[in-house]
Amino acid sequence: MSRPEVQAPPEIFYNDDEARKYTSSSRIIDIQEQLTGRALELLALPNDGIPRLLLDIGCGSGLSGETLSENGHHWIGMDISQSMLNVALEREVEGDLVLADMGVGLGLRNGILDGAISISAVQWLCNADKSYHEPRLRLKAFFDTLYRSLARGARAVLQVYPKDIAQRELILSSAMRVGFSGGVVIDFPHSTKSRKEYIVLTCGPPQSLSTAVTPKAKDEDDDDQTVLNSERNSKRRKLTTKNGKGGKEWVIRKKEQMRRKGNAVPSDSKYTARKRKDRF
Ligand SMILES: C[S@@+](CC[C@H](N)C(=O)[O-])C[C@H]1O[C@@H](n2cnc3c(N)ncnc32)[C@H](O)[C@@H]1O
Repeated sequence: MSRPEVQAPPEIFYNDDEARKYTSSSRIIDIQEQLTGRALELLALPNDGIPRLLLDIGCGSGLSGETLSENGHHWIGMDISQSMLNVALEREVEGDLVLADMGVGLGLRNGILDGAISISAVQWLCNADKSYHEPRLRLKAFFDTLYRSLARGARAVLQVYPKDIAQRELILSSAMRVGFSGGVVIDFPHSTKSRKEYIVLTCGPPQSLSTAVTPKAKDEDDDDQTVLNSERNSKRRKLTTKNGKGGKEWVIRKKEQMRRKGNAVPSDSKYTARKRKDRF
């Protein structure tokens, strides 16, 4: 099935029919709940029982927002699809709902948010749905205003489905350019089914992402997590290769798995995972 992002602009794709179908699918409900739970973990809010004000960007019919309410937080939900927001209203979600296009900026007061999440929405900004749309400018408007509306030190966690590495880089570099620090957390990087990407951003100086990381094993192949730090001026591409599939750590881990299964595997050396010159 082709990605929704290439089928129609979001406000058209998520029409009345789609909004109802989306919200009544138990599979989607489960997935959105899990993704939001994980985004909340990565937000790393103080564990003091005090409710925080969070923004849910691309809140849809409020599935993600419900998890925020269950965790005791207040939230504002923003979405471009009137049909999705109508379903959210019918479902009497607890958040305040705003019909808006994140690509033109958020229009919130400076420093008002304690955190922001976005579940499966921000990759839509990489498309040019109208003749006057320029993805780079729309991402800039979005991140600029998101940065300003967050309290200093607060985080934004954006779970995304980028089409490819270039899209992920475009989203991440747009965030870095306006002053965010942070990087990408990839859960289950070696599983095509369970792999999930979270862009974890801090408003202000860099912090270690590892404080928010709670590794969890689901199945044999899924016992893994990759954190790609991408603080300003760092060499993002190099880190992606080093920690991602095909990098040295990945090769060593795979070799170890093979050894555990009783296979004969060459021992590790400084040449492990080095790219060899082509032989003619
Ligand atoms: C896959 S749905 C996720 C909805 C919700 N986060 C959830 O957990 O159920 C993606 C949502 O992003 C919204 N969206 C896409 N582009 C947007 C934009 N430019 N501004 C605001 N919302 C947008 C869509 O309308 C849609 O409701």
